Amino acid sequence: MIDYFAEERSEDVVNARMGPDVSPRLAEVMTSLVKHLHAFAKDVELTQDEWGLAIEFLTRTGQMCDGNRQEFILLSDVLGLSMLVDAINHRRPSGATENTVLGPFHVAGAPQYAMGTNISLDGKGETCLFVGQVRTIEGLPIAGARIDVWCDNADGYYDVQQPDTQPQWNNRGVFVTEADGTYSFRGIRPVSYPIPDDGPVGKMLAALGRHPNRPAHMHFLVSSPGYQTIVTHTFVEGDQWLSSDAVFGVKASLVASMERGDDTAWRSSFDFIMTPSGV
Ligand code: BEZ
Ligand code: FE
Repeated sequence: MIDYFAEERSEDVVNARMGPDVSPRLAEVMTSLVKHLHAFAKDVELTQDEWGLAIEFLTRTGQMCDGNRQEFILLSDVLGLSMLVDAINHRRPSGATENTVLGPFHVAGAPQYAMGTNISLDGKGETCLFVGQVRTIEGLPIAGARIDVWCDNADGYYDVQQPDTQPQWNNRGVFVTEADGTYSFRGIRPVSYPIPDDGPVGKMLAALGRHPNRPAHMHFLVSSPGYQTIVTHTFVEGDQWLSSDAVFGVKASLVASMERGDDTAWRSSFDFIMTPSGV
């Protein structure tokens, strides 16, 4: 008997069309996707108008993308999907530094500086000394670890968002840990900022009664041969958006101290605990 489309068995009818030579993983992923997509439409009794709106929304999301703007990743971020995929793929032993979203503003190739260098090139903001150590779970220092850092300027924008007004590499740099695993650099006390919200994702957030703000943070990408790369941020303690980050990136273990240092500049201390590769 021909298995024509039928509402009650819709997902089975679609999945039965799959060919015999599909890779097992693709078959697993697509079968589940169709199952959940159809279950969702049935659950909410999706109307024709709503389906049309969704197609329009996804079309606008695609049209918003170019070499500098990735609206689909932003959509994934605000739906919590980016954090979920990150969590599934970076389960680490207790005590190891947790990952969080990379975000769209990392730029490879930032200058490497000597310890203590100030990465703030536009003279704005409150100076902050970032210090800490990279070590193993057992407490052994990791020398030569590469620490790539980036954050927004005091106005809440990354250099790549304002190429005409901010110096290139403003608030970015690479540092390599000393023999005792320590690092230190100067920058600014990070400020909170809204994710780009002038596109369909921003409109969706507004329709859902959600704000677009991220709590103040410094991005860190820490790598060393033989260890899992850590993609994370440290968050400024006490920030008003810590409990409602637009992209769900906050984890309690990533909230770092922010204290007045001896010279009245700020001081933020955070140690990175690396996990061996393959664990
Ligand atoms: C960021 O922290 O740079 C970021 C992360 C996700 C979406 C937008 C910005
Ligand atoms: Fe950021």
